[in-house]
Amino acid sequence: MSGKQVISKQRVADHGEVYTHAREVNAMLDLVRQETERIESRFLEPACGTGNFLVEILNRKLAVVSTRYAKSQLEWERHAALAVSSIYGIDILADNVAACRARLFDVFDAQYRALFKQLVQAKCQEAVRYLLRQNILHGDALTLQTVGSDETAAHPIVFAEWSALNGSLLKRRDFVFAHLVDKASHRELPLFSDLDPARPDIRSLRLSAVTIVQT
Ligand SMILES: C[S@@+](CC[C@H](N)C(=O)[O-])C[C@H]1O[C@@H](n2cnc3c(N)ncnc32)[C@H](O)[C@@H]1O
Repeated sequence: MSGKQVISKQRVADHGEVYTHAREVNAMLDLVRQETERIESRFLEPACGTGNFLVEILNRKLAVVSTRYAKSQLEWERHAALAVSSIYGIDILADNVAACRARLFDVFDAQYRALFKQLVQAKCQEAVRYLLRQNILHGDALTLQTVGSDETAAHPIVFAEWSALNGSLLKRRDFVFAHLVDKASHRELPLFSDLDPARPDIRSLRLSAVTIVQT
């Protein structure tokens, strides 16, 4: 994790860009350790910066993937791709989005290469890059729109929900972020809601808002 918490005074003033230290990231994620170690558990960070939280979440998920599937490259690739596909982020600054995607890819790729060395598949690496382009978005988490550019107008943020199909296929369903936020806003929604047996409603809330699934 990059140790720098502030890049410039201007960015702090303009965008509140102050990064969370690794110590706090880990302490917070430890509060929901079980979820961070569940391969397909979905996380969304709506102001992800360069990904201090998301990178650590991916580290934890891939540690589980490697423990379980290191003996089969195909199984490792499938489950590592699922882990990547469950991680979502939004940031308003384009350089942060690019850096976050790159850091997440590097976490994946370092483990992939360490395990399978010359057997790594370019197709698998490209699939993971594609997932990261779809899931880590250049957008405004307040207006729920993408950030427009000279070439493309701003439009509502749409997240893809990925789920495993037979073989190496992932199924995709798209959800408009504003609709999900609308549903979740009926109740208070923590960013990381743990599964509390005393509050079974939390699970369905988490599922409808963060995992973007069936209600
Ligand atoms: C305080 S930093 C937090 C970064 C990261 N979540 C962390 O804890 O290390 C806030 C981040 O939010 C981004 N940001 C500010 N306003 C935003 C908005 N309206 N929508 C999305 N991202 C925003 C900034 O670019 C910055 O990267």
